Amino acid sequence: MKELDIGMAITGCGSATPKQIMTNNDISHLVDTSDEWIYTRTGIKERRLATNNLSLSDLSAEAAVKGIAMAGLSPSDIDLIILATSTADDLFGSASKIQNILKAENAVAFDLTAACSGFVFGLITAAQFIYSGVYQKVLVIGGDMLSRWVNWSDRTTCVLFGDGAGAVVCQRTTKNNHLLGFAMYSDGKQNQSLNLAYNFQAKFLKNGMVVNQGNYQFLTMKGKEIYRFAIEKVPEVIENALSKAELTVDDIDWLILHQANQRIINAVAKKLKIPSEKVISNVSKYGNTSAASIPLALDEAVRSGKIKSGNIVASSGFGAGLTWGAVIFRWSIEV
Ligand code: UT7
Repeated sequence: MKELDIGMAITGCGSATPKQIMTNNDISHLVDTSDEWIYTRTGIKERRLATNNLSLSDLSAEAAVKGIAMAGLSPSDIDLIILATSTADDLFGSASKIQNILKAENAVAFDLTAACSGFVFGLITAAQFIYSGVYQKVLVIGGDMLSRWVNWSDRTTCVLFGDGAGAVVCQRTTKNNHLLGFAMYSDGKQNQSLNLAYNFQAKFLKNGMVVNQGNYQFLTMKGKEIYRFAIEKVPEVIENALSKAELTVDDIDWLILHQANQRIINAVAKKLKIPSEKVISNVSKYGNTSAASIPLALDEAVRSGKIKSGNIVASSGFGAGLTWGAVIFRWSIEV
């Protein structure tokens, strides 16, 4: 990627998860499944689920507060908030609600929907605003509560998902550009593979006209198709982003994939020939938290001291749309 006068650095991260833990054994009391099936097929042991009084906005704000503190900023320093989510508290969006909770009165805020690719797409979007010189300090949040939308009687989906939020602060820098390369794709031909679709229902008005007054259905997924798609496309998109960064697989210190399934993570790492010591995974503790999964894994790895300043991270999100993307960035607290 060509040298820029203005670059961006990720200067802070944070995450938050609900307190309620549901283990695989707990799920086996709801549907016909077992810890053995779930763990061997997915690597998941447990997930966090929001109770009825926890909003996505509150959980996201909790993650954001930690990220802003790590960056050494206060909420009023933030210029832009991008909330990547598919499960906003309000169909009109939840980013403004988060702006209010944070008291980030100088920030404009909007939602971005790209399912499990949402955080990667949000990070790339933030970079464009920084490169153009429009904004200097951008908060990118990935937050989802898919427990609201899974059918708790469908064992093929309800065992997979959990709730969470993660956030990063991106800042303008003129020293170095730490977002080294990226690539993003969509393929609407495969849209039917993973949906949380609106259920059309006619309502006939007194004047003879008709409008649509349906509601959203539960999440549906053709698991095998998504699995095959991920294993084919994720290594490709990472290699593409690496070549834009003029780097090779050997330059990667850490691989953080969307945490959907340990088997997908292993297969992608194997295809790219990335040793398991460089692969970050927390899918066993949280399941698939959609847009939250990458910043949640990043935050845990940074706070545990695994990821250190200067390390190069390759990250890829993939999911509904279908959408997929990758970013290669250098972790750096310094602006
Ligand atoms: O974030 C978006 C991205 N999403 C993903 O990346 C998900 C990608 N897909 C996957 O991770 C995997 O396809 C799943 C974990 C969803 C499923 O694993 P699989 O190895 O593809 O299993 P399967 O769907 O082929 O099901 C195998 C068997 C079936 O039984 P039969 O037809 O062989 O008798 C299922 O009915 O397992 C059965 N099954 C279950 N059994 C116990 C499906 N779900 C369960 C369950 N417990 N929860």
